[in-house]
Amino acid sequence: MARPKVTVVGAGFVGATTAQRIVEKNLADVVLTDIVEGLPQGKALDMMESAPVEGFDAKISGTNDYAETKDSNLIVITAGLARKPGMSRDDLLQQNAQIVRDIVTEVAKHSPKALILVVTNPLDVMVYLTWKKSGFETKRVFGMAGALDSARYSYFISEELQCKPSEVDAMVLGGHGDEMVPVPEHTKAKGKPITELLKRDRIEAINQRTRDGGAEIVKHLKTGSAFYAPSSCVVRMVENILKEKGEIIPSCAYCTGQFGIKDIYCGVPVRFDRSGVKEIVEITLTSEEKKALQTSAEHVRENVAKLSL
Ligand code: NAI
Ligand code: 2OP
Repeated sequence: MARPKVTVVGAGFVGATTAQRIVEKNLADVVLTDIVEGLPQGKALDMMESAPVEGFDAKISGTNDYAETKDSNLIVITAGLARKPGMSRDDLLQQNAQIVRDIVTEVAKHSPKALILVVTNPLDVMVYLTWKKSGFETKRVFGMAGALDSARYSYFISEELQCKPSEVDAMVLGGHGDEMVPVPEHTKAKGKPITELLKRDRIEAINQRTRDGGAEIVKHLKTGSAFYAPSSCVVRMVENILKEKGEIIPSCAYCTGQFGIKDIYCGVPVRFDRSGVKEIVEITLTSEEKKALQTSAEHVRENVAKLSL
């Protein structure tokens, strides 16, 4: 069977690392593209030269021409500005909106049947914009953020409990911002809810560190934001889509009433298949968590209203 074709738009830190992880896992052939001439070509060639050493067969090419992205199965949009210290994700809104608009016009024209996975911040708003601009069905447009927030939550809990990070399965819902909603009752370490393993004040401290997780990395890096964990999480989603693994992954998807949220994109538990969002899984939430999730979704709606669509 032919390998799927994935286009990664943006050959910066997140895009290039995502492309690298995809080919190293032989998940798909990748077209890496960017507005900067030579950048995707150089990075793609460098990655191909690692193939004999890493032992992958997948191909990656770099281009500045969207014609070469034609008939991709999946487009991952990572192009845009990243946060600098002191900036919120929402500060990126207008500048990244223009970049995303231009890109979506091109990718939708060349790959009208593709799925689009958005990474550019502010995430939930950019996903909404991508959906509107592409004209695609809602299930074919979604975003990565909850997987990252949940991975951070898992890691912090594993540190606290002195267990392996892979033994923690965490759930963070809501928009990718300060109002994200960690869900301790659905977060398990070695199969047990963390509410049975940790005191309430420790859980609340870890929740807050998770909310601040992106800013903590920006503070260290100073000139950019996280990319290793983000690219891992994008590739987890890509693998779930292409291999139809059926895991529940917190992801930004279009809600049609789930959790009392309607007609807006927000981070919710999602199962994917090759046609995109297969289902939003309505896990049981406390009334407090449900309210927090709805507040977070309203924040996305307010930011969407700041855009000309
Ligand atoms: P970066 O600056 O390393 O890379 C961005 C790339 O986009 C650059 O190579 C730039 O030339 C390219 N670009 C800009 N305008 C373009 C256009 N019109 N067409 C094609 N390419 C264009 O930034 P990085 O670290 O890769 O982050 C990218 C985006 O991802 C940022 O908006 C960042 O906030 C977001 N992000 C989101 C995460 C999430 O959880 N959703 C996690 C990490 C980053
Ligand atoms: C993060 O959470 C920048 O949104 C990105 O690291």
